[in-house]
Amino acid sequence: MVWPFPLGRKARMAVFASGRGTNLEALLQAFPKGHPLGEVVLVVSDNPQALALERARRRGVEALALPWRGRRAFEAEALGLLEERRVDLVLLAGFMRLLSPGFVEVWYGRLLNIHPSLLPDYPGLGVHRRVLEAGEKETGSTVHFVDQGMDTGPILLQGRVPVLPGDTEAVLEARVLHLEHRLYPRAVALLLLGLAFPPPEGLPGLLGEEAARAFQALSPREKPLYLRAWALLRAWGKEALAGPAFLGQGGEWGRGAFLAAHLLAQDHPVLRAEVASLPEAVRREVEASLHRVESFL
Ligand code: GRF
Repeated sequence: MVWPFPLGRKARMAVFASGRGTNLEALLQAFPKGHPLGEVVLVVSDNPQALALERARRRGVEALALPWRGRRAFEAEALGLLEERRVDLVLLAGFMRLLSPGFVEVWYGRLLNIHPSLLPDYPGLGVHRRVLEAGEKETGSTVHFVDQGMDTGPILLQGRVPVLPGDTEAVLEARVLHLEHRLYPRAVALLLLGLAFPPPEGLPGLLGEEAARAFQALSPREKPLYLRAWALLRAWGKEALAGPAFLGQGGEWGRGAFLAAHLLAQDHPVLRAEVASLPEAVRREVEASLHRVESFL
């Protein structure tokens, strides 16, 4: 299987943004020049007036407007730029255009988007209004790999926030945005460290028939947890246990991998405490992996 990340060197990232760019700002802050994991080297907007461009320039990052003259023209220019600037990873952050299947295919696995809902629920626009109208008690945000659909690609990481009585669209949006500013950098760090990836092809050969079937039966929201656990076992030299761990037969290493996979997405005091009950060798790997990710954020 091809794991593009970790690259073994600093990643070069581009951000595509159409508007105010608060997520871009969070990414620029998280991955400034000189960051050991990667840096944002290019910001592209289809809208010359986007505040996002201004934000990038203020931080000394190259910012280019490619005014929208149709998808074909935009993508041809963008693809050329990405190659010229030797970009490894493209991050869509409030980019309001749909990319063509051709573009997405070239960048699949290295192209992320952030969407302000708990996908697969509420794809598309007007999310907060629809969430309020439906009377949801909880919402959130999703960082996902971009595929050919709209907000449909494999989930990388999700975060949740409550919907509170009296919330207006604006209040809910602000709460979700605040979450997004922490979520997106974390998702990028996981990807660059090789701890996140889209479900690979040929799973039965990699995991065994039964584990592959169990994985395929999971919901889109559960899959990223299993993939992180798999990546952790691999990082610990225990990849052979991934299949068994997917079936709940991975022993203490499997338990450690799933605990760490949970904690990499969200801290949780009960799970933290459970880490302490792992055998020494497993506990050390779990703590080292958690520390490694935290040290980059
Ligand atoms: C964010 O909520 C993001 O999830 C969505 O568009 C919004 C962009 O906000 N895709 P900003 O431009 O980053 O402030």
